[in-house]
Amino acid sequence: MEHINLDSLLRPHSWDEYIGQRDTKRAINVHLEASQARGAQPEHMLLYGPPGLGKTTLSLLIAQTVGGNLKSTSGPALEKVGDVASLLTNLSAGDILFVDEIHRLNKMIEEVLYPALERGVLDIMIGKGPSARTVQLDLPPFTLVAATTRIALLSAPLRARFSGGVYRLDPYSDDEMVQIIQRSADILSMDLESGAITTIVRAARATPRTANYLLKRVRDYAEVHKVGYTADTAKLALEMLGVDDRGLGKIDREYLKALSEKFSGGPTGIKTLAAALDEDEGTLEDVIEPYLMRLGFIERTSRGRMITDHGREHVE
Ligand code: ADE
Repeated sequence: MEHINLDSLLRPHSWDEYIGQRDTKRAINVHLEASQARGAQPEHMLLYGPPGLGKTTLSLLIAQTVGGNLKSTSGPALEKVGDVASLLTNLSAGDILFVDEIHRLNKMIEEVLYPALERGVLDIMIGKGPSARTVQLDLPPFTLVAATTRIALLSAPLRARFSGGVYRLDPYSDDEMVQIIQRSADILSMDLESGAITTIVRAARATPRTANYLLKRVRDYAEVHKVGYTADTAKLALEMLGVDDRGLGKIDREYLKALSEKFSGGPTGIKTLAAALDEDEGTLEDVIEPYLMRLGFIERTSRGRMITDHGREHVE
């Protein structure tokens, strides 16, 4: 069987194919073009926003534009000082270093990163005690492109190192989502009825990754059941996945039910909710709640989370 990675097939491979995030795309491109014209290495950039909005894809496009190799890693993968040291010393001039989940770097690694980002050097401690000394290694010019879903967890000094810009990726508009789904359907040779597109858009949480995931499952469903790509097929595929018409899954509905019934609509503190749902606080704040707020199903107040009338209706 042929090995095809569907996700890389669906990824945009040029800026023209990348739909939405217009301001970010424009600002990054101006910086890349200006750096290139000066013969300078682009400055370090930070991308933040909810998962699935295209941070990794942007790093690929940046590397492609600059013509450098892309080396990818993540905060949790860099455990020891030696990990970063070997990563940095193995870079070639012009490389793009992509570090996903940069908020999960530990303090020691951050300390190594500062001089590397600011002055392009690696300070290495040799020995211990009174005879300890540091040697400095010059690093090749490189650009760090870092990504995070939780910018508030980055230390101020680390944030200050991204002199090439800090860019927030926004949820996509319905119109952009239609374009993204249409583009993916074309690549997969799926002739989607417009009702099927609408159904997927409504359930895709303004997130291309989710849209592509749902689209692939609709394709599976249609092929196995030998049915067309209609709105009905899309609805049946969503039902099979336990996803409702607004894209809420089990945990989202449990969240709303807990807030509505167990806590009588709130206000309820995040810690209380996390404990009741046996879910991580960070996941609630970064993944579950932003979309529920976007739908107008919940509100965050200074006294805690509250359900809205719309939210209550949705789970009744
Ligand atoms: N797939 C994932 N993100 C995309 C985007 N922004 N534009 C087009 N296709 C995408």
